[in-house]
Amino acid sequence: MKAVILSGGSGQRLLPLTSKTTKQLLPIANKPTLFHILDRIKEETEIKSVVVVVSQDFGHQVKETLLNSEYSKYFSMDFVFQDQPLGLAHAVQITKGQVGDDSFLMFLGDILIEKGEVKKAVEKFSKDNFETTVFLNEVEDPRPYGVAEVDGERVLKLIEKPENPKSNLCLSGIYLFKPSIFFAIENIKPSFRGELEITDAVDFQIQKGKKVGYYKINGLWFDVGTPENMLLANQFLLSKIENEIESEVNDSVKIKGLVQIGKNVIIENSEITGPVIIADNTIIKDSKIGPNVSLASNIVIESSNIENSIIRDNSKIKNIEVTISDSIMGENVEINRTLKGKGDYILGDGIKCMSS
Ligand code: TTP
Repeated sequence: MKAVILSGGSGQRLLPLTSKTTKQLLPIANKPTLFHILDRIKEETEIKSVVVVVSQDFGHQVKETLLNSEYSKYFSMDFVFQDQPLGLAHAVQITKGQVGDDSFLMFLGDILIEKGEVKKAVEKFSKDNFETTVFLNEVEDPRPYGVAEVDGERVLKLIEKPENPKSNLCLSGIYLFKPSIFFAIENIKPSFRGELEITDAVDFQIQKGKKVGYYKINGLWFDVGTPENMLLANQFLLSKIENEIESEVNDSVKIKGLVQIGKNVIIENSEITGPVIIADNTIIKDSKIGPNVSLASNIVIESSNIENSIIRDNSKIKNIEVTISDSIMGENVEINRTLKGKGDYILGDGIKCMSS
């Protein structure tokens, strides 16, 4: 079995965070979503070969990051460039040459799923011998999603964003396919939004009498395509961290709860309320950090309070009066004596905002 990860798309809903960094590389608990996905595949399947679909704009960024990561020592990786975001089924279709005659696990590149689910689904797929198995997630309001009508083990129908959904089981962006999915994709037409939809390809299989099954997710699942969901996923992953403090912390610092502190971190006269992760080479003075904060490396924070936020590498945050909360800041952000209002900020890479 192989894996196909879709890491193209345009990431409009995460602008301005995605103006210089592609969505799938934005960190959740200090690690890109793509790495979290590769962890699930590595720990829970026998897969050793991964095909990554990337966009023209950010493809080289994804390729370089993955090839320079520890994952390239474990997986063989192929990268397929998608000229335009013409839909999930289009993205799958262009991997046909790399996937060949293998079954494959397909992951959207902006999905996080709790440990253990992928293993159970892959076991079920191997046992059932179905053509396709879709991962389904039970939600309160399924209207914005692709919704599945099921009977016993089988999926009977898939409908994209129905007005009157017949179930609350929605497609969750993870699929197990046999190579016959390529035939189905060749036989569908673009939808009203001009995209080749994977929902239509799977529905084509159902209409042709092929066995399509499902795996119902029991644990937590996140689509990290919006800032709100990135912060929820960050909270969830931080709730699982273990205490690990690799720098010396003196008596002027109060630490409560679960905290990970990397190397060469300097903290003075501050309070850290876990769960919090602080990566290497960060400096914190006269500040309150946490709960639910991920700080990447080489950050400077002075006289500021931060909760429920993700702050990326090389940023400087000084003398901010309001509590920074529910915020995501890109790389190389510099803010000093500015920021008023509620305290929730989404700042793209390189934003500088200072007053003297
Ligand atoms: P989406 O979240 O549906 O689309 P998007 O990434 O363009 O985001 P937005 O709606 O905010 O503009 O995509 C889900 C995943 O599939 C994501 O990881 C990107 C990937 N994708 C492709 O690789 N190719 C495509 O043609 C599309 C539409 C998505």
